[in-house]
Amino acid sequence: MPIPSKAIAIAHPNIAFIKYWGNRDDSLRLPSNASISMNLDGLETRTSVEFVQSLEADELILNGAAAVGPALDRVVQFLAMVRRIAGIKTFARVESSSNFPVGVGLASSASAFAALALAAVKAAGLALSELELSRLARRGSGSACRSVPGGFVEWEAGRGDGDSLAHSIAPPDHWDLVDCIALISSEHKTTGSTQGNRLAGSSPLQSARVADAPRRLQLCRTAILERDMDGLAKIAELDSNLLHAVMMTSDPPLYYWQPATLAVMQFVRSLRQNGLLVFSTVDAGPNVHVITRQGEAGRVAGMLRGFPGVQDVLVASVGGPAKLID
Ligand code: DP6
Repeated sequence: MPIPSKAIAIAHPNIAFIKYWGNRDDSLRLPSNASISMNLDGLETRTSVEFVQSLEADELILNGAAAVGPALDRVVQFLAMVRRIAGIKTFARVESSSNFPVGVGLASSASAFAALALAAVKAAGLALSELELSRLARRGSGSACRSVPGGFVEWEAGRGDGDSLAHSIAPPDHWDLVDCIALISSEHKTTGSTQGNRLAGSSPLQSARVADAPRRLQLCRTAILERDMDGLAKIAELDSNLLHAVMMTSDPPLYYWQPATLAVMQFVRSLRQNGLLVFSTVDAGPNVHVITRQGEAGRVAGMLRGFPGVQDVLVASVGGPAKLID
């Protein structure tokens, strides 16, 4: 077994302004459209990977408990890919924990697979560039490829497996955006993203969403580069609504919004109409990501904390890339 055989990495989750939903190829996770996100500082998954000669199978400890079933299978599949690339046969012990609440509908697969990819690659003795690492993380979870580079990140749809990868379009200090995440309780277990992604094509609206994606991507890229809050607000809210229109019209339909989700979205719109630079975006869950500038974040988070139906508010500024820990 090559040295070092053990490595620890951390990665942040990300919030997409232009969303990924639906694949051209589900097993390769080749997306139907490119997407743009920002990493979330302060929220992180920390993962250690150790290849151990004596193991007879891969092991996964997730937030302190031994994982079995689909969560373990997904990690085993990913490690098998790393083993193939590295030309090794040794099984690994993986320990992963996140410092943000799990089971509240915050996408943790992005930070999880970005951290796993980096730690596994290092432990297996491979030297991959950031682009290659992002391409590899994509195979574990699509949005994970965007948690490999830092700051504001674009995942290019690519022509195939070789060039569907993510790169930074601006560093974390480019713009002082803050995500105030309004956590809204969900009584029903939601359909996971992997299953949801497979349903995207069954919505008659998905082809229109995908066809219009290059225009939205261009507007989003420009708004970020020019630090144009108004421009970003318009295009990100439209994109989020297009995502949920596709979800609600797929077969079977997926309703991720709770009544409080819509109430917060409308509240955020009214704040903007009153001159506050703020907008909202929602992923595959009921929580509302409320994006504002650093100077307004305390006030916005305070208003959200008192809002009916909001259980808690997490506050995250723009995060850096996945990195190895000594
Ligand atoms: C709604 O990347 O979680 O958050 O590839 O199956 O792991 P898998 O899906 P995932 O999908 C994320 C969907 C989204 C939008 C986004 O983050 O772009």
